[in-house]
Amino acid sequence: MKKTMSMLLAALALAAVGTVSAAQPDSSRHMAKGVPCTACHGDAMKAVPTRDTCLTCHGPVEKLAAKTEHLNFTSRMKNAKTGQTVEHKALVNPHDSYHFGTSLACSECHSEHKASRNDCSTCHDTKAWKIRPLGAE
Ligand code: HEC
Ligand code: HEC
Ligand code: HEC
Ligand code: HEC
Repeated sequence: MKKTMSMLLAALALAAVGTVSAAQPDSSRHMAKGVPCTACHGDAMKAVPTRDTCLTCHGPVEKLAAKTEHLNFTSRMKNAKTGQTVEHKALVNPHDSYHFGTSLACSECHSEHKASRNDCSTCHDTKAWKIRPLGAE
């Protein structure tokens, strides 16, 4: 009877992790840096982290945006006909960008258990912008 009970408890413990998903993740990038699973998924391992969860450690978002502000650059375009050069600041900071400001969900680009990808690359050449490819993290 005692044995059956401990087996049942073991099964329940597995089921509790399973509420996040059927499958176990291959790896956790943060775990390697000492951040436990529960910091993102909650003590019950139920929650999928939201932007607010990420920002409890990496926020406020203005502070995060300041870290990648150096990625913005001055774009110079010469008009061949007029000979005039037009300059403007290209706002490519992924955390405070031209289109979206600071509003994007982290999951648009960052993943935890699979390769991340910069969503701006769908339409732009982010390599030319000298932004680190996220898949290499
Ligand atoms: C409990 C605090 C905590 C939470 C919650 C958290 N992180 Fe982190 N994060 C860290 C720590 C600590 C590091 C390692 C920092 C370092 O190596 O300098 C890190 C590193 C990172 C890095 C890599 C930084 C680099 O230099 O390459 C990214 C990207 C990141 N976190 C994104 C996220 C996202 C997205 C979420 C939400 C899903 C999140 N973090 C939730 C603490 C946290
Ligand atoms: C549009 C894509 C995109 C979104 C959305 C995004 N990030 Fe990032 N993030 C990046 C890229 C690209 C880098 C690497 C920039 C570089 O250094 O070249 C990065 C870098 C980081 C870093 C390391 C910063 C450093 O240099 O120390 C952290 C931490 C991070 N992101 C957290 C977050 C969090 C938290 C969110 C949600 C609030 C978020 N990111 C949303 C694309 C994104
Ligand atoms: C930094 C936050 C963070 C940490 C730490 C973390 N995860 Fe996750 N987890 C996520 C995010 C974000 C997702 C959504 C998919 C993705 O980005 O890979 C996820 C998805 C999952 C899923 C799949 C959920 C679904 O419904 O598809 C499981 C299971 C899971 N995590 C378990 C774990 C375990 C076990 C650990 C510890 C080894 C852990 N996670 C550590 C953020 C985190
Ligand atoms: C669905 C396609 C699409 C995505 C995704 C996208 N862009 Fe754009 N972007 C465009 C188009 C089209 C233009 C030109 C029209 C305009 O200015 O709105 C543009 C213009 C820009 C410009 C102005 C050009 C300049 O030289 O100043 C910047 C900066 C920019 N995008 C940054 C970003 C960043 C950063 C991301 C990711 C957070 C991103 N874009 C994601 C389609 C996209």
